[in-house]
Amino acid sequence: MGMSSRVPLTYSRKVLELFRNPKNLGRMEDADAEAMAGSLACGDMIAIYLKVEDGTGRILDARFESYGCAANIAAASTLTEMVKGKTLEEAWRLSWKDISEELGGLPFVKFHCGILAIGAMRRAIRAYYNGRPQPEWLPKEFTPEERQALEEEKLMEILERRIERLKTEG
Ligand code: FES
Repeated sequence: MGMSSRVPLTYSRKVLELFRNPKNLGRMEDADAEAMAGSLACGDMIAIYLKVEDGTGRILDARFESYGCAANIAAASTLTEMVKGKTLEEAWRLSWKDISEELGGLPFVKFHCGILAIGAMRRAIRAYYNGRPQPEWLPKEFTPEERQALEEEKLMEILERRIERLKTEG
């Protein structure tokens, strides 16, 4: 098995650029909100950190850590750039399609990597309002993006169950 047996993905120039040179990469020590979430589609994880201005809810800074693929790193890098200066509500309304567009398009099999970035950000926003008055615009139920970006424990639990099943089947 060599590299030649793999079909190369058609990443846009921007995805490759950000993969090599990501912006806002690294932990934020004094974050006002953070979330770590993983994708059930691939088992990869991402953390999103937000610095939020009290009162206005404006995002002053955003950072990420990714244990995902090139598309996920590029998506998280773009997302953290896009939300700086936005209010939490504006950030909440961003979709993975906005990110994909900004990146010059994600390959079909990499859509979930963008969804993971959005889902993790929404989880961070939700975490921010944990113990604060909930704004009108924040849905009471988890959105599909949040459900696809599972909390670490939940992800591990499901993956372990899958492995168990594989073992008993084999
Ligand atoms: Fe897992 Fe892209 S394949 S985040």
